[in-house]
Amino acid sequence: MSSSTPVFPPAAEMEILFSKQQIADRTREIGAQISADYKGQSIVLIGVLKGAAIFLADLARAIQVDNTFDFVAVSSYGRARVSSGAVKLIKDIDNPIEGKHVIIVEDILDTGLTLSYLRGLMLQHKPASLKIATCLDKPERRLVPIEADYIAFKIPNQFVIGYGMDYAERYRGVEDIRIFPAEVAGH
Ligand code: IMP
Repeated sequence: MSSSTPVFPPAAEMEILFSKQQIADRTREIGAQISADYKGQSIVLIGVLKGAAIFLADLARAIQVDNTFDFVAVSSYGRARVSSGAVKLIKDIDNPIEGKHVIIVEDILDTGLTLSYLRGLMLQHKPASLKIATCLDKPERRLVPIEADYIAFKIPNQFVIGYGMDYAERYRGVEDIRIFPAEVAGH
């Protein structure tokens, strides 16, 4: 097989890092925390496509306060993006957020480049407040100083798939979060 041929091993063969149940429990906890923090207020959840779509769907259903959601998409150049630090907006929010309480919802906070770019961009819209919720946080990989306000799980420097997260667009629908084999990912 040529080295450029993508290899997609079955997800069932990969080690489970967080089970469907663990994810559901943690998402419910974060939903309850957000509901308490924003009691009596309305919030706008802004999901970062595509990875955060599934986390946002579950989180929104775990939040008891009035909420709406919107999505943004940013360009992804993989490792090239990390080395250049360049992040580009592909899809902006549909509705104004000025004066609103906003939570950006992300799948993984990794180098921090994506979220620091998005935070800066959203602040230009003058929201009443801006927080970040992330399903996973890889603090070891940070290149720019940024922290999330709500974190489901902190993980070491491992490449993971499932629950919205992909490897070459595959595995987003896998229900657990699993460790993608390092030898395949080349990490
Ligand atoms: P960063 O914080 O700007 O480096 O970018 C985070 C983005 O990189 C996430 O939203 C994911 O799309 C992607 N990413 C980082 N680590 C992983 C991983 O382990 N699996 C899948 N995608 C990842």
